[in-house]
Amino acid sequence: MVVALITGASSGIGRELARELATRSYDLVLVARRGDALKALAGDLAGKYGVRTWPIEQDLSEPGGAAALAEKVRGLGLEIGVLVNNAGAGIYGPLNELEDGDIARIITLNYITPILLTKRLLPDLIKARGCVVNVVSLAAHIPIPWFGIYTSTKAALANFTDALRIELRPLGVRVIGVYPGYVRTSFHENTIASPTASRARGSPSTMVLDPAFVARAIAEKIADQRFNGDITPGLAYSIAGALARPLYPLVRRYLDGWFKRTRGSLISRR
Ligand SMILES: NC(=O)c1ccc[n+]([C@@H]2O[C@H](COP(=O)([O-])OP(=O)(O)OC[C@H]3O[C@@H](n4cnc5c(N)ncnc54)[C@H](OP(=O)(O)O)[C@@H]3O)[C@@H](O)[C@H]2O)c1
Repeated sequence: MVVALITGASSGIGRELARELATRSYDLVLVARRGDALKALAGDLAGKYGVRTWPIEQDLSEPGGAAALAEKVRGLGLEIGVLVNNAGAGIYGPLNELEDGDIARIITLNYITPILLTKRLLPDLIKARGCVVNVVSLAAHIPIPWFGIYTSTKAALANFTDALRIELRPLGVRVIGVYPGYVRTSFHENTIASPTASRARGSPSTMVLDPAFVARAIAEKIADQRFNGDITPGLAYSIAGALARPLYPLVRRYLDGWFKRTRGSLISRR
């Protein structure tokens, strides 16, 4: 059986993906900070689908997080055939209001950890002719003011994903980039928000995706051995994603006006 490791498996897209992969008979290493949630999910999936599961508690926003996780996987004697770099979080607010430590943790979690974890598990992935999945975001194409640390980690991850696909193709390892739009998960309430940004938070009422829908789209592409590319779940978002790169100068201009219009009264010179 192929062993899939999913980071950020305690909720949202990661938890739903664990369920989808369990229905397809993948054994699962489930990683996040909330050990209780992981253990409950691991027990549930093992009981329902007869797969083997290993819950691992690990903070991936710490500098040594990826290495520590790889050591724990090694200690269990597992070889990973599918790596899903899904754990991620947001940080929102005017730059001068954000804490240095929070900024560093978000960059580590969203960008550095996927790179280091992929590096550590690469021998397994090459041996298995396996697959890396990076959960990026449509926000990778949109330089959103006050959200620029998050969007730039995702832009960097997108670039790395494209480069890695070319690099690993000759070795038989597939690299899938996932570009979701707005998904109904705890991501939004967990986003670190500065005092000013907290007053400006809102959520869309349309084009909201279900995490189970996103997870199914990812699982189908993992299982499809011929697929080696990007996915943007949902028709409207896939059109938006296709247009975002060629229309980047227009997107930037639009955001300039939108920011002045909607955040102008909150901008402080301090
Ligand atoms: N929701 C959206 O609209 C949306 C859109 C585009 C892309 N995405 C991306 O989708 C991915 C999954 O997010 P989600 O929407 O499913 O949100 P979520 O429900 O908040 O899930 C995030 C997962 O990451 C884990 N995580 C957070 N901080 C961690 C840390 N320091 N160490 C280890 N694990 C950590 C969380 O587990 P613990 O709290 O237990 O550690 C949780 O399992 C993220 O990369 C996000 O950027 C989300």
